[in-house]
Amino acid sequence: MNPEIRRAAGILRAGGLVAFPTETVYGLGADASSAKAIERLYAVKGRPGNHPVIVHFDSLERALAYAREVPPAARILAERFWPGPLTLILKRSEKAKDFVTGGQPSVGIRVPSHPVAQELLKAFGGGIAAPSANRFGRISPTTAAHVREDLGSDVDLVLEGGPSEVGIESTIVDLSGGAAVLLRPGRISKAELEKYVELKEKTEASPRHSGGLERHYSPRTPARMVPTHALDKEISRLQDKVAVLAFSRPDERVDYWLRMPREPQGYAQKLYAALRELDGAGCELILVEAPPEAAEWAAVRDRLERACAG
Ligand code: TXA
Ligand code: MG
Repeated sequence: MNPEIRRAAGILRAGGLVAFPTETVYGLGADASSAKAIERLYAVKGRPGNHPVIVHFDSLERALAYAREVPPAARILAERFWPGPLTLILKRSEKAKDFVTGGQPSVGIRVPSHPVAQELLKAFGGGIAAPSANRFGRISPTTAAHVREDLGSDVDLVLEGGPSEVGIESTIVDLSGGAAVLLRPGRISKAELEKYVELKEKTEASPRHSGGLERHYSPRTPARMVPTHALDKEISRLQDKVAVLAFSRPDERVDYWLRMPREPQGYAQKLYAALRELDGAGCELILVEAPPEAAEWAAVRDRLERACAG
């Protein structure tokens, strides 16, 4: 076994925190069966104690053992999309403790595909609770360097795994209440899910989840979304030093300009690194050119709306 992975598994067994790469974003991992480890995880993240975390596994069998009931739709999605960027919310079994579910009767589970995550999960042999490896409410990390910038010495080890391929957090489907409900859009789109299961709309009764808070995934610099046709006018009107995230070519009047891919997967992959870069540019405002309204942009639009909220 890779000595770094062995060391990481040892740290987790001793109740420590290991940040590791997944195909979506980097996760901050702790032993899902240890109350003490999870307590430290929440303290480092600065996350309220009643927020549930996703538990990660190396295989479908281990993951589904955390569920009390596995509805047919859940098994279909698990078999089709795991390992991969999908989280399922299911009624929890006694293996899923209150401290990972935030006291809710459901648990979030996922089998990631990143080879380093897989190696770590196999070496550890149990569930690893892992929220994104950023402080609460901030931009999720998509490189090991982002994790170190955010968490510094509060994390015992950061495993290197290159830039995250998907770039935004997993798609979350809640199946804990019978019907399948899309709670968080991601790389696996609504249309893709609907090839396999019928999806119902989110309601007031859907479980709480922090990704559902209005302002989340936020840069420190105020950010505003602007439709393409209004971008030019907005730039000429502004006195402030502005940074722009756009599809088009840089405008000379603007201090800092990042050009993004015109297709949603490439855009998602670059999004969080781009927001971090613009946030660090020392501008008073970030202007974001709104992405198209088309369904394939839903996940990117969701993250941008949150980054621009508040
Ligand atoms: O891609 C991802 O999902 C990444 C990587 C590391 O796997 N993880 C991630 O975790 O984004 P986190 O904690 O930042 O976001 C997890 C979301 C939160 O909105 C959380 O509240 C929700 O999943 N969640 C987890 N368990 C839940 C449950 N039992 N019921 C409802 N929502 C749940
Ligand atoms: Mg997060």
